[in-house]
Amino acid sequence: MQMNIENHYHDVIIIGAGLAGTRAAIEVASIADVAVITKVFPTRSHSTTAQGGVAASLNNNKAKGEDSWELHMFDTVKGSDYLGDQNAIEYMCKEAPPTVIELEHMGVPFSRMPDGKIAQRDFGGHSRPRIAYAADRTGHVMLHTLYEQSIKENVHYYSEFVVTQLIIDNNVCKGVVAYDLRKRNVHVFSAKSVLIATGGGGRIYKVTSNAHESTGDGFGLIYKSGLPLQDMEFPQFHPTGLYPLGILITEGVRGEGGFLLNGKGERFMEKYAPEFKDLAPRDLTSRAIYTEIMEGRGVGPKKDHVLLQIHHIGKKAILEKLPEIYQFTITYAGVDCTKEPIPVMPTMHYYMGGIPTNYEDGLVIADDKGNTVKGLYAAGEAACESVHGGNRLGANSLVDTVVFGRKAGKHMYKYIQQVDKPELKGDEGKQTVEMITNLTNSTGQELVSKLREDLQDIMWQKCSVFRDEKTLKEGLSALKELQKRYKNVRLIDKASTFNMEMKEAIELGNMLEYAEATLASAIYRKESRGAHSRVDYPKRDDQNFLKHTLVFRVQGATPRIATRDVSITRYKPQERRY
Ligand code: FUM
Repeated sequence: MQMNIENHYHDVIIIGAGLAGTRAAIEVASIADVAVITKVFPTRSHSTTAQGGVAASLNNNKAKGEDSWELHMFDTVKGSDYLGDQNAIEYMCKEAPPTVIELEHMGVPFSRMPDGKIAQRDFGGHSRPRIAYAADRTGHVMLHTLYEQSIKENVHYYSEFVVTQLIIDNNVCKGVVAYDLRKRNVHVFSAKSVLIATGGGGRIYKVTSNAHESTGDGFGLIYKSGLPLQDMEFPQFHPTGLYPLGILITEGVRGEGGFLLNGKGERFMEKYAPEFKDLAPRDLTSRAIYTEIMEGRGVGPKKDHVLLQIHHIGKKAILEKLPEIYQFTITYAGVDCTKEPIPVMPTMHYYMGGIPTNYEDGLVIADDKGNTVKGLYAAGEAACESVHGGNRLGANSLVDTVVFGRKAGKHMYKYIQQVDKPELKGDEGKQTVEMITNLTNSTGQELVSKLREDLQDIMWQKCSVFRDEKTLKEGLSALKELQKRYKNVRLIDKASTFNMEMKEAIELGNMLEYAEATLASAIYRKESRGAHSRVDYPKRDDQNFLKHTLVFRVQGATPRIATRDVSITRYKPQERRY
């Protein structure tokens, strides 16, 4: 079948319509022709599923004393197991309160305190109740508000498009190539600047809170372009995924007074975090749950999960503060959480690592010297500034998206006024046309769905909450086999419009790449830090590993690892106690 190539120009191209991408679009749209390329309708982006809230030291809830950006910063640095870059964290924590107020002024309908101020609740690892929220639909209302603002600013959306390639020439980004799912066309977009805001990649795991679209497309695009990914050994496991599906049960449940119980009915978190208890950070809480399970104190016939109790706060409070959770648990587990505890287990939730990005301007970092790619930006979960280090505190991701989305937008605003329209060579769409044609015509034996399932099994079994050298290496060699099998993939679906199997085949190509980056980085880091818990190296080793890993793809060989320094400005690493 003949395939058309369509050409476009926009000053700014943003890949991904979640909170980071949309916030950046709004910032630059007043002077630029901005287009957002998204796989789904914008308000269905994964940010919409964020539940519990956005962290900012607004100081509206003083139940545990006064709050400040310094306290927020300290909690975040400590939470990150000292791998977070303190210059970036300081910037984020200072910017958080005005950014949330700005969202309020844009129209985000936050829940309220009795005095009318934005309501704030507790979350794990935060020493103050600093999480601003809108019941348990915070991401949903933020994204809808920002989307409305972007429409007001005439931002153009290309929905149901999959970006297949970055156009980078002599270290300058000149645009992207994309595949139009609706018409089966290839589109070449030239642009003065490109922002990657594609979110995370939880879908390489069997159990995840992530949407089906969270397939690490930005990670894949960068890694395949020969650029590095940073700290990929740090996928975060959220302690409370709904058992057995892994759907998010917000930390807001524990923030509102919920607690975890093992099979013996014990509140086991008191043992692992005597001070913070059920509001310990996620790395510690997920390990605690697995330890209870491994030592035989799990719940159910397989003793493979624990319980989360919230009904003691009463139906009225649950319906007011956690209405989605009430509905989810009934729909997906047949459990009425106003009457009985919720079955939960850790679920892959977030990538702390990602595309190394300068916090000051949002530019993508190309090497261990800190050189950047001109015109190429990243923000949100796809990026690694790094404000989360080895372990992100809950509600710091929403603030990350809007603070750094806006920052990248501001820099693009200046940059596009300084550069000319890029000139393309003219053959940029060829590689994608070949890929689509080959996938369409392939008579290979491998199925996309089976390969994806095998990948998810490998990652879940070999690179989960606890790891060691042997299992990680087994995972990497199993992954190499999958990469070979992928070359032999065949599509069953022959539809020429909305061919979802084609989309999944493209996504799988990316997933197999950043899964490799994740395993290789996890093998390299021979210590336990944050969410990277090596049973063969149970201690943190600041002497050898207080540094960021950069992983580069090497065609047909083991990835190359380099390192970058961690910014330590205010707080020297110390033992984490909760
Ligand atoms: O538990 C939650 O509501 C998740 C929030 C987050 O990941 O920041």
